[in-house]
Amino acid sequence: MDFTNKTAIVTGAGQGIGFEICRQLAANGARVVLNDIDADLALKATGAINQLYPGSTHALPGDCSETGVIQQLVLEAHTRFGRLDILIANAGITLFGAFLDYTPEDFYKVMQVNLGGSFFLAQAAARLMRQQGSGGSILFMSSVTGHLAHKGLVAYGMSKAALEMLARNLVIELSEYGININSIAPGATLTERTTTDKNYEAAWKKITPGGRPATVADIAHAALFLVHERSRHINGQHLVIDGGWTSVGIQPE
Ligand SMILES: NC(=O)c1ccc[n+]([C@@H]2O[C@H](COP(=O)([O-])OP(=O)(O)OC[C@H]3O[C@@H](n4cnc5c(N)ncnc54)[C@H](O)[C@@H]3O)[C@@H](O)[C@H]2O)c1
Repeated sequence: MDFTNKTAIVTGAGQGIGFEICRQLAANGARVVLNDIDADLALKATGAINQLYPGSTHALPGDCSETGVIQQLVLEAHTRFGRLDILIANAGITLFGAFLDYTPEDFYKVMQVNLGGSFFLAQAAARLMRQQGSGGSILFMSSVTGHLAHKGLVAYGMSKAALEMLARNLVIELSEYGININSIAPGATLTERTTTDKNYEAAWKKITPGGRPATVADIAHAALFLVHERSRHINGQHLVIDGGWTSVGIQPE
């Protein structure tokens, strides 16, 4: 998949899935604006990718659910790389908690980052893409927990299901500008965060029909497929990448 002369923004990309998406985009010729709320992580990640693919990636740290950061991200793509073709709204937070004890603070935080951040960044990116007149691709990062109920993840699961509806709605709003919008829903994925739980990999191995949780490369591969120019006719769709888990739906212990 060739991404030469394409510019992408990827949020929450200092580590995990977002980092691997940036690395694969850069490996295939794209220029990338890499965002993370953790400035050290953003700079380290950008340094690592630029060492492999010099000049490909620029770090823009900050909370991608804040209006000012959203504007900066789009401006940076425009001024530094001359255009914006791809937005991958990857950043998302998981705040576990039982419904009966869940606090308004946690609820609104999850909605602000997972939903508000994706919504307003897509809006800002689409405005620039409309102005450029050559279309573009937007991808939202959902989750299998937006499809199947999962213990302790009421707010998170709601936010992920809503992102899939956002993608569908934007088909009406943005198709006339040649912009397609899709979402992917990873199942359990091995990342720096998830593997802090030492039982994570073994637990998901046991209950995933494919025999293992996803790697970040599995997820990034699907992301690149959907944001490639040749996939522009795929619009308003949701791709689950879970080794078959949602077909069976056994909950982890
Ligand atoms: N890892 C999984 O098993 C899994 C499964 C399904 C869906 N997802 C989704 O995939 C995405 C990436 O998951 P991950 O596990 O790689 O992420 P992660 O939890 O490792 O976070 C990646 C980065 O996002 C950054 N971040 C957090 N809030 C931010 C904000 N407001 N602005 C900018 N950066 C922010 C963090 O600093 C971190 O470096 C998320 O949307 C997550 O909900 C992950």
